Amino acid sequence: MAAGVSAAAGLTFPAVLRAQVKPLKIGLLLPYSKVYAVLGESITNGMRAVFEAEGNRVAGRPVELLREDEESPPVALRKLRKFLTSDHVDFVVGPVSSAVAAAIRDPIHQARVILLNANAGDNALTRERCSSYIFRTSFSNWQTSYGLGAWVKQRVGGTAYLTGPDYAAGYQIVGAFKESFVAAGGTVVGESYVKLGSTDYAAILAQIGAATPALSFSFFAGSDAVHFVKQFAEFGLKGKVRLAGAGFLVSDDVLESQGEAAVGAITTLHYTRTLQNPQNLEFRKRYQALTGRPPDVYAVQGHDTARVILEALRQTGGDTADPDRLSRVIRGIQFDSPRGRFRFDPATHNVINDMYVMEVRRGEEGLANYVLSVVKDLKDPGHCPNIAA
Ligand code: PHB
Repeated sequence: MAAGVSAAAGLTFPAVLRAQVKPLKIGLLLPYSKVYAVLGESITNGMRAVFEAEGNRVAGRPVELLREDEESPPVALRKLRKFLTSDHVDFVVGPVSSAVAAAIRDPIHQARVILLNANAGDNALTRERCSSYIFRTSFSNWQTSYGLGAWVKQRVGGTAYLTGPDYAAGYQIVGAFKESFVAAGGTVVGESYVKLGSTDYAAILAQIGAATPALSFSFFAGSDAVHFVKQFAEFGLKGKVRLAGAGFLVSDDVLESQGEAAVGAITTLHYTRTLQNPQNLEFRKRYQALTGRPPDVYAVQGHDTARVILEALRQTGGDTADPDRLSRVIRGIQFDSPRGRFRFDPATHNVINDMYVMEVRRGEEGLANYVLSVVKDLKDPGHCPNIAA
């Protein structure tokens, strides 16, 4: 009898309420091993900090984070398929690598599942390969370095050696720097790319030493950044050639390991833990309590990705069934983030960032990136042909 009553009650339960008690499944496709492992952990922890403050429920739905190590494009594709066909996730979050992002774009678009790209900067994903179902909460590769070229040409010098890892992110980030540096009258004296995950940079450093340009511009991240910056100092280049780069080179995740070797580096990025806005002061406390570490740029990207999910579900009353409705809602989401004002460019679904030009110093917050100037409201210049208006 009791069973009959509850079955009858179940039948009359309004659909929206039934939707609300279904767990909210978020498939994290992020690196948890190798060169970018810390980046994946930071993104995950940044998300956890937001959801834990909400009691791990969003619009009444308990949050489930499913983790898969993105590894490589073919492995990531297989894991994505599992998220879509067996876990039936509500959102996919990730990846970190531009190479993986390029590989998963078409299956995401065809499955009409929302991808919140919490790191990979591949320019094409919000340009010619954009999708109604893809939003980027991090940066485009172009955004991370374009603002620095003219700045260093005017204040540091007119010659540069360029380096990065031998894959799309390396070419795109170095390419955007080169575009603005050369347009401002700078000269590139050499350019080298090395295998992702290299531990020995001696060959490149010898070339930089031989050319002795005013500055060396690099994109390296994770353990690559630690090795490159330490070896740059060990090679005796510090003090002769100014170290510059996209801010991942000396960001808060790697700076402590680099120590003195990083002092003086000039970079651009959309976050440093030294930002003094109220959202960052609060996030620093919460992240430190959760992980025992200060946040880094990847943690903030995770934080903002979780905020987007939270705001979207508040607006749909917890309903994630219609991807086109979700896409329209997400496009308009704005909030104050630890990085500054967070908003998407509705034409491309790429985040618009204030980019901070920074120098590594020992200051009031210890060894950290301190802001020298800000490139406001930097929007990726790409065009997206197929996002429904
Ligand atoms: C990328 O592959 O797009 C990428 C990876 C790590 C970063 C930034 C960009 O820190």
